[in-house]
Amino acid sequence: MIPQSFIEDLLARVDVVDVVESYVPLKRSGSNFSARCPFHNEKTPSFTVSQTKQFYHCFGCGAHGTAISFLMEYQGMGFIDAVKDLAARVGMTVPEPSAPKEKAGGADEDLIGVVARAARFYKQQLKESEKAIGYLKGRGLSGEIAARYGLGYAPDDWQADYAKSTALSKAGLVIDGNEGRRYDRFRDRVMFPIQNQRGSIIGFGGRVIGKGEPKYLNSPETPLFEKGRELYGLVQARAGIRQYGVVVVVEGYMDVVALAQAGVEYAVATLGTATTPWQVQKLLKQADRVVFCFDGDTAGQRAAWRALENSLGQLVDGRQIGFLFLPEGEDPDSYVRARGKEAFEALLAAATPLSEYMLQELGSRVNMRSAEGRAKFLQDAKPLLAQIKAPMLSLVLRKQIAGLADVSQAELDARYGIQTPVTSRVPRRQVAEKPSLLRHLAEMLLVSPGLARLADIERFRAFAGIAVPEFSRSEVDLVAELLEMGVDSPHVQAVVERFRGKPLESMVGRFQASGLLAWESRELDEDALKKAFLGAWQSIDQRLSKSRIDALLEKSRKGSLSEEDKALYRSLVGNAAGDHASTG
Ligand code: GTP
Ligand code: MN
Repeated sequence: MIPQSFIEDLLARVDVVDVVESYVPLKRSGSNFSARCPFHNEKTPSFTVSQTKQFYHCFGCGAHGTAISFLMEYQGMGFIDAVKDLAARVGMTVPEPSAPKEKAGGADEDLIGVVARAARFYKQQLKESEKAIGYLKGRGLSGEIAARYGLGYAPDDWQADYAKSTALSKAGLVIDGNEGRRYDRFRDRVMFPIQNQRGSIIGFGGRVIGKGEPKYLNSPETPLFEKGRELYGLVQARAGIRQYGVVVVVEGYMDVVALAQAGVEYAVATLGTATTPWQVQKLLKQADRVVFCFDGDTAGQRAAWRALENSLGQLVDGRQIGFLFLPEGEDPDSYVRARGKEAFEALLAAATPLSEYMLQELGSRVNMRSAEGRAKFLQDAKPLLAQIKAPMLSLVLRKQIAGLADVSQAELDARYGIQTPVTSRVPRRQVAEKPSLLRHLAEMLLVSPGLARLADIERFRAFAGIAVPEFSRSEVDLVAELLEMGVDSPHVQAVVERFRGKPLESMVGRFQASGLLAWESRELDEDALKKAFLGAWQSIDQRLSKSRIDALLEKSRKGSLSEEDKALYRSLVGNAAGDHASTG
């Protein structure tokens, strides 16, 4: 992927304060900046951005990270897009490792250019096609809305000159036929360009004019276009979503455009596939309330249940997901055209909450008046509930499920393998964990990685292999890695970024947060930090030496000490004895 060295250079150049401030107004407070947290609702600001340490942290919800993670979390960007966005801000070009130095910009940029050119071509063709214009007018769309969504028309003839380009084939715009011939994928269709969230066009949906099969033709998956990761209309809807605090998810391109035409400017569509967890996650970042809107038929019911299943793992306390089922035979387009914006918004307001929909649906599958039915109900609910990570919602739902099945919540929790009390399972409680020496050391390294230079890494590495009962394996691993990284990479953000996607990532986040809490609040005196670090280091070193000595003594009791062991023993005792004045 993108070379680590580039990430480090990039993070050294961008200022997280600028990045955050471009979305959230910040206020200076002491050496830091603060704001009301953009990731959860709060009245008093507990969101802090540290300019010296180059990261943000919310003491309320635990949101935490670098400029890169901020863009990922706040804007819903992928890692690569976030890096590209930051690079653009400071005028750096992201290297393309797979295509070594062929062209600046790389293959994806080229494809984006090809697709953008095609979109311009289709748009131009629309202006010249009375047939296509007539069709869109007939569906109630104004020229203004057509322009807002960049609608176009793919003409009915073959574009011979285009047909030569491999890039067009890669972008899914032409199809490779026999004898190396290529032909246009989209012909005589109204074209809906699909934008990613940076606003680049990455694919198209094409609708047949009038009747015909298939009704819609979509771009295939390409290096640019992954259906499960995009939402049609998000770019156009962003302002509306922010303003209303709601995002409506519909099934069709036409529905999005028709809703916008009617003044409902916060609708997006999935791309002809079931809603993915990834899309749900992205949606929940856009607004506190997400409403899925489905047609009232059985296909709609099935799609809704899929959306529910794929939402469970993404639920967050304080956010709501609702389900809206339109009357049979209606879709958002037909409904809003017939009844208008107010009627549609009234339906939205009355959408069924996810929890209610889930319980209704599960209950309707069994006979709740029989013991067998209630047993099945409990059984069916279990795997669904297991996916819900939002602690409050999980708790309330379990209570409700227990009530419906006529068992106590304690009985239910026992059957579901849930430990009580639930409160101890709430994540991000900084007080809940026992402080350990290693954790303390890791926290300091995560606030000031250069401290690693004060430690004897060789010695730690040599000892890291032995088990010390009170040292947790992952903490030992973390400290070992932090020591290695800290020596040549004194930037906190760079160190943190290196853990992205790795098993220790979440531990790094937690430790850094508690380290900050402890040190940043004291205005971070480097000298005090050094002393504390050396103190902790010494204790750990002694503990490791003692453990090694104990192991050697045990071995000598069995009479199996080698010359090497003896030498090691002498050196250890000499070292560990420093403060103890014990004899060897
Ligand atoms: P209109 O008939 O133009 O109003 O379309 P619609 O928006 O009501 O679409 P419909 O509910 O029929 O389908 C919803 C979505 O499913 C569309 O936007 C497409 O993404 C997808 N879709 C519909 N028909 C087809 C098809 O024939 N092939 C493919 N691949 N996708 C389709
Ligand atoms: Mn329709």
